[in-house]
Amino acid sequence: MDVQLKNIAVEKVATSKINEVDFDNLSFGSVFSDHMLECTYKNGAWEAPKVVPYQPITLDPSSKIFHYGQSIFEGMKAYKDTEGGVWLFRPSDNQKRLNISAKRMAIPELPEEYFMEGLSTLLQVDKDWIPTQAGSSLYIRPFIFASGKGFHASPADEYKFIIATAPSGAYFSGKVKVLIEEKYSRSANGGVGFAKAGGNYAGQFYPTQLAVKKGYQQVIWTDDNTHEYIEEAGAMNIFVRIKDTLITGPTSDRILDGITRKSILDIAADEGIKAEVRKISVAEVVEAAKSGDLKEMFGAGTAAVISPIAGFGFQGIDYDLPELENSYAMLLKKRITDIQYNRAEDKFGWRHKVL
Ligand code: PLP
Ligand code: COI
Repeated sequence: MDVQLKNIAVEKVATSKINEVDFDNLSFGSVFSDHMLECTYKNGAWEAPKVVPYQPITLDPSSKIFHYGQSIFEGMKAYKDTEGGVWLFRPSDNQKRLNISAKRMAIPELPEEYFMEGLSTLLQVDKDWIPTQAGSSLYIRPFIFASGKGFHASPADEYKFIIATAPSGAYFSGKVKVLIEEKYSRSANGGVGFAKAGGNYAGQFYPTQLAVKKGYQQVIWTDDNTHEYIEEAGAMNIFVRIKDTLITGPTSDRILDGITRKSILDIAADEGIKAEVRKISVAEVVEAAKSGDLKEMFGAGTAAVISPIAGFGFQGIDYDLPELENSYAMLLKKRITDIQYNRAEDKFGWRHKVL
């Protein structure tokens, strides 16, 4: 996978759509920038990526993505600082994780340069799409899917790698109420839970619909074997604070190795916050909620950043969390976003300058 790229071909749109976008009222991931990066895997190799106008994709009905779900993705953001500088946050971790997901789903790994130079070229072309409004950023969605044809249940021989971007506001509006799941599972040992495979998300939609009908926004997944331990939320890793200790579950076959999660653990250590990476039982969380020791729960992820949880439901009972003045969630969110938007020193070396 030794690939050197000097230039990536760019085909620009005839007319930009940027003036049609209301940058002051952005939702999450619903308007798309003018261009996308596109790269095809064919005859045993990835072809050179190119930047092209954002456009629909034509696929054969037998393409294996439709039948066997060979599809993986990443989630990243580009941030613009007050001087117009453009930044990414730990992008090589996303690049590496895409290839970890690719390997598990029998998708050919993508050369690092295609990802990094492709993304950087795309961001240069669409830099005006990176919003500067508070809390907004350019959400970046790199993905690979099986475009190869055939009903045979085996890996495809052709794939597409695409990076599409969307100027976005917050993923959740307000605090989130979650339901601790007792029946359905998101992932299992030996399965694909640690990969960002499309089907992991499809499998969550039905149980989440059931939770939404009961008045919750998200499901908190528990381990598939006993349903006794809290694992993660649909698109976020989960943290709980009991007294003054922050706790998150260990990554495994079943839990995504979140970049926000590991950054929070490093920032917590830097802040002198006691943090533990260990299994968290539902019983422990319920007991702590009853005794008042459960101070906070929050989800952490690129799209959601740090999203405080207002309360949780378990076995038909709702438990509310207190409103804290100086929450860990607020402190950690400020520290991480100050690094992302180039508002503070980055002692960890996480920020990556694009422009
Ligand atoms: N867990 C799942 C299932 C996710 O989809 C995500 C989002 O990417 C995360 C956790 C958080 O990961 P990261 O912080 O790398 O975005
Ligand atoms: C992200 O946080 O970037 C994700 O990929 C989650 C996604 C399902 C919105």
